[in-house]
Amino acid sequence: MPHPSSYRKLIIQQLTGDFRNSTHIVEQAWQDPAAGEVIVRNHYAGCNAIFDKNLCRNAIRYVDVQPPFDMGIEAVGEVVAVGAGVTRLAAGDTVAVSRLGNGYREYQRVEASKPLKIREASPEILALIPSGISAMVGLERIGEVRPGDTVAVSAAAGGLGHFVVQLAKLRGCHVIALTGSEEKRALLSQLGADRVINYKQDNLRDILAKEYPDGLDVAYDSAGGEIFDIFVDHLAMRGRLVISGHTSDFDKPVENIPHPRMYRKLYWKSASIRGFQNQSFPEFFDEAAERILDLYYRGRLQAWVEPQTFDGLEQVSDAVEFLLSGRNTGKVVIKLC
Ligand SMILES: NC(=O)c1ccc[n+]([C@@H]2O[C@H](COP(=O)([O-])OP(=O)(O)OC[C@H]3O[C@@H](n4cnc5c(N)ncnc54)[C@H](OP(=O)(O)O)[C@@H]3O)[C@@H](O)[C@H]2O)c1
Repeated sequence: MPHPSSYRKLIIQQLTGDFRNSTHIVEQAWQDPAAGEVIVRNHYAGCNAIFDKNLCRNAIRYVDVQPPFDMGIEAVGEVVAVGAGVTRLAAGDTVAVSRLGNGYREYQRVEASKPLKIREASPEILALIPSGISAMVGLERIGEVRPGDTVAVSAAAGGLGHFVVQLAKLRGCHVIALTGSEEKRALLSQLGADRVINYKQDNLRDILAKEYPDGLDVAYDSAGGEIFDIFVDHLAMRGRLVISGHTSDFDKPVENIPHPRMYRKLYWKSASIRGFQNQSFPEFFDEAAERILDLYYRGRLQAWVEPQTFDGLEQVSDAVEFLLSGRNTGKVVIKLC
């Protein structure tokens, strides 16, 4: 296939703590794939605003960001060149790739073992991989969800959260979905959530105490802050709280909260709090990817993509700021070609 002599990518140029001021678009000279590699033309990239902003503060524990640093993680696109010895992929294959540094760029060079073959390089598939996979692994493997469980989900209309809601419903759970907006409340009801709570308007603590006296079997939290505290207090006997992020305060100074020691809250209930960061559980990903795509292709799972469009690398900062404003519904996606 013909290819350009160079293409564009987004890098961290300086660590300012702010995404827009830290990043810059630069030209990358074309390099043919080495043996065992392929080149993918990225069609859509997924926005992980919180992770992205944390990179710009060098605040991701397992990455040491030294500018210039390539940005972006997940993308879907088309294989345009294959290196010597590659047999599992061919030019024209559509693939999804999740790899740090490979998302916010027009082309990516990657080991041929990494891309996942998909039917089409659509924004919906991009939403499923990896956010849907993370939702599945977090809920099933870390939350150990069981049929009949009462499951609460924060940021339930978000890129990750709307998958958690649906997967819990497919397991036969009663699902309590949290959101901060009335429009998203209506959408979450349509998605099948049994109880939708607008945490900005309703009193979450009172509702849980009154309507769910037996507590939450699984609380899937990516909001943190007060929502996390309330979830801890309302865990059921043997309840599991999955920490999947803390959007509400990730870029704020660490708060020191006067609290009884955690064992006072957990021990007598045999309840637990479990951290979940997807990169710590790679062993579950292939199986989850297969199952989540199968659910989607069979029409059992919706993949929500935020309707606001973001076009090209110039609008990645807009996408990041949009997500951080809390206005998004579903996965925020950047169109690259
Ligand atoms: N564990 C993992 O491996 C993993 C993987 C991917 C992402 N994550 C984490 O999961 C979270 C969601 O990521 P995402 O990309 O899917 O984003 P998202 O949920 O699509 O977007 C963030 C949402 O959080 C809610 N929110 C914003 N400020 C909040 C606040 N102060 N209190 C409560 N909720 C607030 C907003 O929804 P409402 O207005 O509806 O509340 C907003 O739409 C992030 O914390 C991310 O770092 C974790």
